[in-house]
Amino acid sequence: PLSKATNIVWHQSSIDREARFQQRGHRSAILWFTGLSGSGKSTLANAVNVALHKDGYSTYVLDGDNIRHGLCKDLGFSDLDREENIRRIGEVSKLFLDAGIIVLTAFVSPFRVDRDNARSLVGENDFIEIYCSADLGVCETRDTKGLYAKARNGDIKDFTGISSPYEEPESPELKIDTGNLEIDQCVDIVTNLLVERKIIS
Ligand code: PPS
Repeated sequence: PLSKATNIVWHQSSIDREARFQQRGHRSAILWFTGLSGSGKSTLANAVNVALHKDGYSTYVLDGDNIRHGLCKDLGFSDLDREENIRRIGEVSKLFLDAGIIVLTAFVSPFRVDRDNARSLVGENDFIEIYCSADLGVCETRDTKGLYAKARNGDIKDFTGISSPYEEPESPELKIDTGNLEIDQCVDIVTNLLVERKIIS
């Protein structure tokens, strides 16, 4: 949305990203996990978080289910509400990036344009899109929260994959077959890319 406030002037912080980098000893980045409900986004984001944290990196996970309890509790699952949800997460992620933290976001983020807007907001270099590609059949069979059953019988409307679309990423930095791979293999795929990108060593 357009800014409603006028007469506001950007205040430049004296501590910039480079200063954070010098102090922490590592670059920040955004690992943007996307995929169907139950595709393993949160599980993988959390496992990567644990691995990085153990090695001394400053990290933080933003997770759809949790953020919707607070920052985004005024939002539902209409297309417009999802757009606003992802817009806010993009902005919050940008703040974490500036704070020198590796931020891991786990949101369905079903719309390509919304993910691309987040990418443009934070900049191509710092945005790593990770598609958790477990297919609908696998997610529905798992149905860890019982939501697919509810969506199928009409108790939940606008449910991603059933009654609301999921637009697959066209060129994500990583596509991980979370429907078939073991969690440790998935974590290795992510950390290998972070080494390659010189975000971690
Ligand atoms: S979105 O589309 O990015 O704004 O969604 P997100 O904030 O990630 O929230 C997804 C989690 O909310 C639960 N849930 C639903 N998901 C999809 N569609 C509908 N209608 C819906 N209703 C509730 C669901 O548990 C999602 O969690 P995950 O972790 O993805 O399974």
